[in-house]
Amino acid sequence: MSSQFRYSIAGCGMMGREHMRNVALVPGARLVGICDPDEGSREAARVLAEELGQAPEFFSDCGAMLNNAKPDAVIIASPNITHFDVVRQVMAAGPAILLEKPMCTNLADARALHAMAADYPAPIWVGLEYRFMPPVARFIERVHAGETGPVKMASIREHRFPFLEKVGDWNRFNRNSGGTLVEKCCHFFDLMRYILQDEPRRIYASGAQDVNHLDERYDGEVPDIIDNAVVVVDFVRGARAVLDLCMFAEGSEQQEDIYALGPAGKLEVALPRASVIWSPRDRSGPVAEPVATPADALAAGDH
Ligand SMILES: NC(=O)c1ccc[n+]([C@@H]2O[C@H](COP(=O)([O-])OP(=O)(O)OC[C@H]3O[C@@H](n4cnc5c(N)ncnc54)[C@H](O)[C@@H]3O)[C@@H](O)[C@H]2O)c1
Repeated sequence: MSSQFRYSIAGCGMMGREHMRNVALVPGARLVGICDPDEGSREAARVLAEELGQAPEFFSDCGAMLNNAKPDAVIIASPNITHFDVVRQVMAAGPAILLEKPMCTNLADARALHAMAADYPAPIWVGLEYRFMPPVARFIERVHAGETGPVKMASIREHRFPFLEKVGDWNRFNRNSGGTLVEKCCHFFDLMRYILQDEPRRIYASGAQDVNHLDERYDGEVPDIIDNAVVVVDFVRGARAVLDLCMFAEGSEQQEDIYALGPAGKLEVALPRASVIWSPRDRSGPVAEPVATPADALAAGDH
């Protein structure tokens, strides 16, 4: 037992339950506590815990979970608007923290959390998991190995289905999620910075809510989240990056395409097709490299 690492999860909705599956894959990890104010989410997590052979204690309150379960690590997968309060409560107890993205819903909270994290004695990490998906990780490895030469242009296209329904419908309003470009596209702005190993200098953007959720009402209120956007980011060393987002493209086969282009050619990766494709400028390509994800990791969920 002494070699076991004790995990807790705050928020056991869709993503918290995916984290339960991930914890079940980690040797030496033991899930000791789960907190969630929603009885329906706790019940769904109870059923899953039994299926996975986990025996966490359940709590409706995060403080009670921290005091009783005494975790070594806490995964925070509650709605974005709660992240700042929950993470501060968890930090007071001192465990390692994986905070789901986005870290916060506004810049003031993000700056305050960044400052607090600087002195935190345990690891604290924001869940920008796209970097670690095997096809994306391989694409980035090849870009960083210099195959394209210095990247001059990075391009990310996401054409996908609308936001799913969430517990209490929190994701229908900017005030709860930070907005579409924060809630989902923080992954892509993270990838741009990581691919280019550089920081943004100037950002231009255009977006609107043209199609999705316009016929929905929550206490009489119409959702206000945008469903399409184009964002251009100029980076300090001169590279340009583009995000092309459409969230009313249910029929699109490839949800995400990521490209890096430099003087030697173009590397790209598409999800869910999981191949890295190299198109050198000498026209000897394209050459596809399939990248497998381990079957047990796939079973844990999409992320
Ligand atoms: N990394 C990724 O790719 C990825 C993917 C999906 C969601 N997420 C993030 O995970 C988080 C949860 O998203 P979801 O899709 O699971 O939403 P969800 O609505 O399915 O689940 C959220 C759960 O948190 C609970 N909750 C509300 N307030 C809480 C609090 N104060 N303390 C503990 N639990 C609380 C809710 O009752 C609900 O059960 C969000 O921040 C979201 O952006 C990340």
